[in-house]
Amino acid sequence: DKGEFRHYMLKEIYEQPKVIAACLEGRISDDRILTSCFGADSAFLKDIENIHIVACGTSYHAGMVAKYWIEDLANIPCTVEVASEYRYRKVAIPKNTLFLTLSQSGETADTLAALRMAKELNYLTTLAICNVPSSTLVRESDLTLLTNAGAEIGVASTKAFTTQLTALLITSIAIASEKGELSAEKQKALVTALRSLPAYVDAAIKQDEAIKLVSEQFANKHNALFLGRGPMFPIALEGALKLKEISYIHAEAYPAGELKHGPLALVDETMPIITVAPNNQMLDKLKSNLQEVRARGGELFVFGAKETGFEQAEGIHYNEIPWVEEILEPIVHTIPLQLLSYHVAVVKGTDVDQPRNLAKSVTVE
Ligand code: F6R
Repeated sequence: DKGEFRHYMLKEIYEQPKVIAACLEGRISDDRILTSCFGADSAFLKDIENIHIVACGTSYHAGMVAKYWIEDLANIPCTVEVASEYRYRKVAIPKNTLFLTLSQSGETADTLAALRMAKELNYLTTLAICNVPSSTLVRESDLTLLTNAGAEIGVASTKAFTTQLTALLITSIAIASEKGELSAEKQKALVTALRSLPAYVDAAIKQDEAIKLVSEQFANKHNALFLGRGPMFPIALEGALKLKEISYIHAEAYPAGELKHGPLALVDETMPIITVAPNNQMLDKLKSNLQEVRARGGELFVFGAKETGFEQAEGIHYNEIPWVEEILEPIVHTIPLQLLSYHVAVVKGTDVDQPRNLAKSVTVE
């Protein structure tokens, strides 16, 4: 039931504060992650020396964000690969490697095949972060962390993605703590930030009307370029995927530092450039990347906190999103990109919940 909403996708975007809270429920105390959420025996967390993440599509983008968190917080090497590639190659597996899959449906053919292959190989254990408790992936994995997002009907994944990120942050903090890489004080600060996450996401959704206005500028565009740096690069990839899927506008994403190595050649007055600005030490570098784009006539659409210092100007459309702790930026900054692609699709009149050529669950190769 769509209730008051015109499309399932919009309903699911608006459900995010509630389902992120459901994903956190029972997994955190006031000051730490409750490792019992990984099952009765969470001793494996201490043994992890490497992580291989395997997934498809939007779930793969969530894995790409997790790599930044895991290497930063837990100091453990982490690789991320799409399941359709992983399953057909010989993989080198270092000692004590965790095999981690991500899937909304738990029925994606390539992800299941990758898990079955991994179970024959020398992994420490297999963990699935999944939204469907009764799925094949959950049944066949050694360990499961459910995302608790509730049924997702819109083909374009929204709440499944942000709850995957929430579950991945829980996992990253738990591993870091068990490996002795995280002080009690730092863990408490991270958990306190996590507690505020539903309220931050709610505040980001409140920008809906402003983003709807911006979306009108995209109706007659044929291409778009998304830029991000650090953990915001996978968010740029996810923003581009959403726009492609439901509005059929060709969109690409690059880490902003790669511009000069090729994509800058594409930039002219007809090219909108969308960027989510982090408020960290990479901000100045991002700003100089954006100046290069402006100098070639590219029109900028910037989403960022007030603290980033962006303002409306000639050729710069600035939309404010609330300030959040740096670790949460990938989750909260996803919201404006979801809303943007949604409103662009509505303006273009495409079938938002059932985009052409796509199925909700890809159960064949
Ligand atoms: C994009 C989208 C797909 C899925 C992909 C994997 O909006 O929904 O890219 O993310 O097909 O599906 P799951 O997560 O069910 O394994």
